[in-house]
Amino acid sequence: MSAVVVLGGSRAEHIAVGLARLLKAELGEVEVTRFPDGEMYIRILPNVKGRRVVYVNTLQPSPNDALMETFLALDALRDLEAREVHAVIPYMAYARQDERFKPGEAVSIVTIAKLFKSLELDAIYTVDMHLHRVTDPSKLFGARFRNLTGVHELAKYVKHQPELRENAIVIGPDEEAEQWARIMAEDLSLDYAVLEKKRYSATEVRIEARGADVEGKKAIVVDDIISTGGTIVEAVKVLRELGASGVAVTCVHPILSGNAYAKLQKLDLLDLAGTDAVLSPISRIPIAPAIAGALEKELSL
Ligand code: R5P
Repeated sequence: MSAVVVLGGSRAEHIAVGLARLLKAELGEVEVTRFPDGEMYIRILPNVKGRRVVYVNTLQPSPNDALMETFLALDALRDLEAREVHAVIPYMAYARQDERFKPGEAVSIVTIAKLFKSLELDAIYTVDMHLHRVTDPSKLFGARFRNLTGVHELAKYVKHQPELRENAIVIGPDEEAEQWARIMAEDLSLDYAVLEKKRYSATEVRIEARGADVEGKKAIVVDDIISTGGTIVEAVKVLRELGASGVAVTCVHPILSGNAYAKLQKLDLLDLAGTDAVLSPISRIPIAPAIAGALEKELSL
């Protein structure tokens, strides 16, 4: 029996398989079903008493169900006397509501963090979580907190396509994406530029470009999340106006809400790819390698 057991929630079984392989750990099963009234039923199948457990679940699609499933599973692991519980949450839902933007709003991520804190986890691992206004996530979530990045995996994917990389520039569609554009540009030995975005509502954004020299070049856009696709649609429009010879789009979390995928398909992109941190029709890039190294270190494997 391996010292570490990896368990996958209903949205991340594929990531659990990848992590168990990379960590050379046992892969365990979790039964997830529903009672007739819609309530969730969770059963941890392996005996976890005294063992170190890595539980992975990602909080999209249907974030509310995913959260309830995750809380039930993690609390059960504690109750079943696992020696250590490591929660891998590649996509942390509710992270974008990290401030009271209008009077009376719930600051959702603080509430979610309180619930995680009550589980007394040993460590939490997220991937490119929106942490703009959360300065000390370990304190907020009450556990060692590692926010990892999936951008190196995106860069590896592009690296395998020499024709895409040639005469290309990496583009962050807004100021916040500078961090991801910089990593990808470094990994690919390319230049990068960042566009300027103004958000008017959850679905309406405007993008402007100042100083982005893309004329005659291929633009490789990188972002953390594609939700409605509004940001990408606007960015592609601007890049074409600036004379880009073609545009490819990559992202870590392809949430693709509503008709986002249909909108993106109409853009005639050179490529459109995301990681499997969230499953979607474009989730072609495994996220497990971005997480395995941190777990290896934490678990001293
Ligand atoms: C913004 O903070 C993020 O980095 C993404 O640019 C944004 O979440 C994308 O959302 P949408 O696809 O709805 O424009």
